[in-house]
Amino acid sequence: MSSPATAMRTHRCGALRREHVGQHVRLGGWVHRRRDLGGLFFVDLRDRDGLLQVAFGPDWTDSATLAALPELTAESAVLVEGEVLARPETQRNPDMGTGDVEVRAHRLQVVGSAPSVLPIPVWRTKGEPLPAEERRLQQRVLDLRRTELQRNLQLRHRLLQRARRTLSELEFLEVETPILTKPTPEGARDYLVPSRVHPGQFYALPQSPQIYKQLLMVAGFDRYFQIARCFRDEDLRADRQPEFTQIDVEASFVSVGDVYAALETVLVALWDEGGHTVGRPFPRLSYADAMERFGTDKPDLRYGLEVEDLTGVLAGRGFPAFDDARAQGGRVRGMHLPGGSALSRKELEQLAEEAKRGGAAGLATVKRQGDQLSGPLAKLAGADAALFRLADGELLVVVAGPDALTSAALTRVRLAAIRRLAPPPSVPHAFLWVEDFPLFERDPDSGALVFAHHPFTAPHPDDRDRFLAGGTEGIRAQHYDLVYNGTELGSGSIRITDPSVQLRVFDVLGIAREDAHRRFGFLLDALGCGAPPHGGFAVGFDRVAMLLAGVESLRDVIAFPKTTAARALFEDAPAPVSAADLAALGLEIRL
Ligand code: AMO
Repeated sequence: MSSPATAMRTHRCGALRREHVGQHVRLGGWVHRRRDLGGLFFVDLRDRDGLLQVAFGPDWTDSATLAALPELTAESAVLVEGEVLARPETQRNPDMGTGDVEVRAHRLQVVGSAPSVLPIPVWRTKGEPLPAEERRLQQRVLDLRRTELQRNLQLRHRLLQRARRTLSELEFLEVETPILTKPTPEGARDYLVPSRVHPGQFYALPQSPQIYKQLLMVAGFDRYFQIARCFRDEDLRADRQPEFTQIDVEASFVSVGDVYAALETVLVALWDEGGHTVGRPFPRLSYADAMERFGTDKPDLRYGLEVEDLTGVLAGRGFPAFDDARAQGGRVRGMHLPGGSALSRKELEQLAEEAKRGGAAGLATVKRQGDQLSGPLAKLAGADAALFRLADGELLVVVAGPDALTSAALTRVRLAAIRRLAPPPSVPHAFLWVEDFPLFERDPDSGALVFAHHPFTAPHPDDRDRFLAGGTEGIRAQHYDLVYNGTELGSGSIRITDPSVQLRVFDVLGIAREDAHRRFGFLLDALGCGAPPHGGFAVGFDRVAMLLAGVESLRDVIAFPKTTAARALFEDAPAPVSAADLAALGLEIRL
């Protein structure tokens, strides 16, 4: 079968071009829009390649078709047979791929009729807003017919093929790992699947193929990849879905730089597929430097606006919040915002609101217009433009307190200032490796040490001895994240291959030896059987598709997404199951 021709059709309608003029064609598609101009009748016929104008008239269309046309409903599936004609010069439509031609139809047959009133429209007049998203998710099949979603899913397909091809060329082998698994801790809750054959026992859906890909390295596969479905039962945000797709990669006998090189090749190829040229190598920044200079581990490097330590300059000048912060071991940190002196009082209040959302008591400011300083800090002892290093038109924003607080507050202020002041980006595509993350962090609620990424991440070689001697504070990991324009695209690490180091990590995490062997014995045993040094990475593929499609939501690049409340609205899942099904699983519902 030469695609896309079938016994029913010769071409996809959206693919017809000038070179097809004169051909007799059979087409299949959907009625996008219909116009009745008295004697003439036009249908915009649509398929996945686009729209085509089909004309009907008494001189060339059979009478049965003409008689049925007034009843033709939008979104019906139809077969059309006719002649491809060049449009006269005055009627060419440069906005349509098929705009040089039209088809004069001899006949039209409805093969799947749609109701005269659709639950949601597919064709809209220019500027007409989309129906509410909930409504569109309930009617996902009709919504998927929309040009934007057709385009997004076609882009997603091309990106997946490009990722596969690129990794395959780099000699990575595609290996599928189980969906019914033993739990892998990745920081979220597991979706559990009860076993009917083993009542009272459960599989977990994989949060990622992390352990399996490590086992494949021990098994000698050397370079693995997978377009992996991952499942995480977590509180949802706009950029998260309970099930999502990773480009998951692992390689043996590698160090950090080798992982970066392979991943950069993949990312550059994906961006090329999206129509963008990106340079490499990507810059690197340590976690500590990222936090110091930008207050976040996901800095958007398209913009400068760095955080500065102003403790030495501004504390001790009679501003109580600054002096108190320093006395309590905190710092005074701030940011110069070029053009910020033009912000209105209301806009400054909004920036202060962001600082408060980040945990700060407030946002102190001073601005310079000409030689004039104004704002609360202008009254500070010794206040002049030189003290604040303020250029004309700049605004200085300042917060004081512990680093965690000032970082969180200034990150929010920085993002809000970028939105408000819209400084020109220095580059369109700012990729960044952030590396040397802490191995552990403190749970803000319990104060207990928890893994910062996942428990299989190797300690940094420079901190390994201190870690094995019992140290935990300030131990860095060989863990790295990839950030793009301020969004985390993925993360990875060099893994622990020594079972004793792995057990030490479990100890720190408070996992008792017995428990560690019960949950991870299969991994510990494998690591003890000749494990090669290995490391890897996972790219959040939905995020990549979302960014390259230029859309704001993961739902716009996933065919059947879940809502932020983790519901599938079209098929209506999750749903209760019958008492008989529960009984077969040995389960009982107690709400
Ligand atoms: P991590 O948990 O950081 O690493 O996940 C990697 C990337 O996957 C994407 N991602 C998500 N995308 C959509 N919805 C979600 N709920 C979601 N959660 C994560 C993000 C993230 O950066 N096993 C490790 C990788 C490794 O160490 O090799 C892992 O899964 O873009």
